[in-house]
Amino acid sequence: MQAALHAIRNAAPRRVVVFTGAGVSADSGIPTFRGAGGLWRNFRAEDLATPEAFARDPDLVNEWYEWRRSIIRAAEPNAAHRAIARLGSAFVRALVVTQNVDGLHARAGSREIIELHGNIFRTRMMNGRERPDVVWFGEMLPAGALERAAAAIRDCDLLLVIGTSGVVYPAAGLVQLARGLSVEINPDPSTACTYSIAARAAEATPAVVDAILEGRRD
Ligand code: OAD
Repeated sequence: MQAALHAIRNAAPRRVVVFTGAGVSADSGIPTFRGAGGLWRNFRAEDLATPEAFARDPDLVNEWYEWRRSIIRAAEPNAAHRAIARLGSAFVRALVVTQNVDGLHARAGSREIIELHGNIFRTRMMNGRERPDVVWFGEMLPAGALERAAAAIRDCDLLLVIGTSGVVYPAAGLVQLARGLSVEINPDPSTACTYSIAARAAEATPAVVDAILEGRRD
């Protein structure tokens, strides 16, 4: 942790991208997908998160998403979401690129957000039925989202990667585009960042954000 904080202070980054996955919301009590207690340990993605599953049984799919919405509605942004929201300032340009559909970054106050996998609280029509406006397996990401995220990551001075297993493409490929400093926060680090901090998001993110903003508060 100290080495990463030192490197961040030295870099004095002005353009920061925060790339998040389900782990950033784990401390809010929202289940991740692949860890212990993860959704894909208890449910089959092919029954619930594919266009084929929806064509077969739209009511089952919508019910499952309504259950997930109820968990998210009852949850609050945690210290990691709140710290990330403090980043945008006159001195630091901060963009959040998230794989999460829970909307917690916006609820915490982040303003520039790219939601690569959509948002669970929006719906849209498909084959005359209402469905959640999220990205299912086998579907395209929202138009332009990946390109905008990639451009920002190529140009940033610091990429923070928080709470993702880095196995779902194309989103996972974004991490490799960083040319500057990159720092991962994850109890079980999985991506090839310059530094990894093996800690929970809510535990480590506030100190990392303080290191970015240090001397720039004025
Ligand atoms: P995963 O469930 O695959 O990975 C969660 C990551 O968070 C793991 O690396 C954990 O070690 C880490 N983690 C757990 N608790 C944490 C904590 N308190 N603080 C920090 N990290 C923690 O979730 P994603 O990587 O987001 O796609 O999964 C990617 C995509 O797969 C999701 O967007 C979803 C899913 O299928 C779609 O719905 C299209």
